[in-house]
Amino acid sequence: MDNIVDVLIIGSGVAGLYCALNLRKDLNILVVSKSKLESSNTYLAQGGIATARNEEDKPFFVQDTLRAGHYKNDIKAVEILADESMENIDELIGLGVEFDKEGKDLSFTKEGAHSINRIVHTKDYTGKSVAQALIKEALLRDNIRIFEDSYFVDIIEDKGKCTGAIVIKDNMQINIYAKAVVLATGGIGGLFNNSTNQRILKGDGIATAIKHKIKLKDIDYIQIHPTAFYEENVDDKRLLISEAIRGEGGKLINSKGERFVDEILPRDVVSKAIFEEMKKDEKPYVNLDIRFLGEEYIKNRFSFIYRECLKKGTDITKDYIKVSPAQHYFMGGIEVDVDSKTSMRNLYAVGEVSCTGVHGANRLASTSLLEGLVFSKRAAIDINNIIHYNKVKTVRVSNLNESIEELSIRNERMVIGALRERCKDLDYELFNCR
Ligand code: SIN
Repeated sequence: MDNIVDVLIIGSGVAGLYCALNLRKDLNILVVSKSKLESSNTYLAQGGIATARNEEDKPFFVQDTLRAGHYKNDIKAVEILADESMENIDELIGLGVEFDKEGKDLSFTKEGAHSINRIVHTKDYTGKSVAQALIKEALLRDNIRIFEDSYFVDIIEDKGKCTGAIVIKDNMQINIYAKAVVLATGGIGGLFNNSTNQRILKGDGIATAIKHKIKLKDIDYIQIHPTAFYEENVDDKRLLISEAIRGEGGKLINSKGERFVDEILPRDVVSKAIFEEMKKDEKPYVNLDIRFLGEEYIKNRFSFIYRECLKKGTDITKDYIKVSPAQHYFMGGIEVDVDSKTSMRNLYAVGEVSCTGVHGANRLASTSLLEGLVFSKRAAIDINNIIHYNKVKTVRVSNLNESIEELSIRNERMVIGALRERCKDLDYELFNCR
């Protein structure tokens, strides 16, 4: 079965949906989602969205981002991130996202390696409030169609140009042809047993890039979040204990009841300190103490984490939270320019699957949703400007003779192979990349 659209977007997290919403309303857009719209990593994001507070703060935001990223960042991309941060927050507010306020003003919190409080948030479920607003708006738009539970098989390439993608929906192969294709397939956390990510995120976009020799960048830059809730034998994603908790004073404590690290240093530094402490203590976790914040404050400000920990038997208003590091984010990915263009014509990549270079070797806290917003909007603007020059070209695509399971195992192996080759330092014992 063939289908022709103007713009095809693979992925429905913040980057995919925000791109769709910023495309011209006269364009016929199809968004393909691997599962349900609510199953994205965006939905799980807790902490918030960092933004430059004002013109004067922009250079400081840039400096904090570079310092956290070990100066391996692309400076131009970082400057764009800071420059365009506030306008995108305003756009979200226009779409109905209700960020927390102090009086009439937005409430800004602090997380690791930020020199000032500059993170807007909706309590501890910012991602959910952003995702819900984007989903609501996308469903209202007549020019946006959404395929849920649809498996992205591959892009369609014709003479070095991307002309569409192959998708399986309801056990049927659909060849979708488009004037522009946007990969927004998310990260790689589903390849790790120990990760805060949705299990369905297995680097599908990265596998596509490997198959089609599309340029990748920095695929050895994998972020480990210092604090995921510790449980024995979990098959599912790990419950994130937001960095905002440490930003608001949460203390990391070893088995002797002593603090062992400044909790708001960059994530890689705090994760390393926790690993060392776990080794010394011969324990698979350390403790995080936030009891001093008081029951009322905790139940209001960190209501999601409070409820989720309670379900797991820990009352965080009374008990220490057992935490250990977990894979959290992929800074590397498909190399893109500042308009999110990949090395293949007509193909864009946005969000975690892409590598804008903005994060360098270690992402500054609460900049992932921001990167998704800023650079997916830039992709949309680029597409809006050039799309009338593009023509849809249909080419012959052979019928698939592999099942979805076979295809996904093959893709996973390909991505894991590439990661293992590049990530010599990653401790596979701890993260168990399958
Ligand atoms: C967190 O809340 O700790 C996660 C935010 C992020 O990934 O930047």
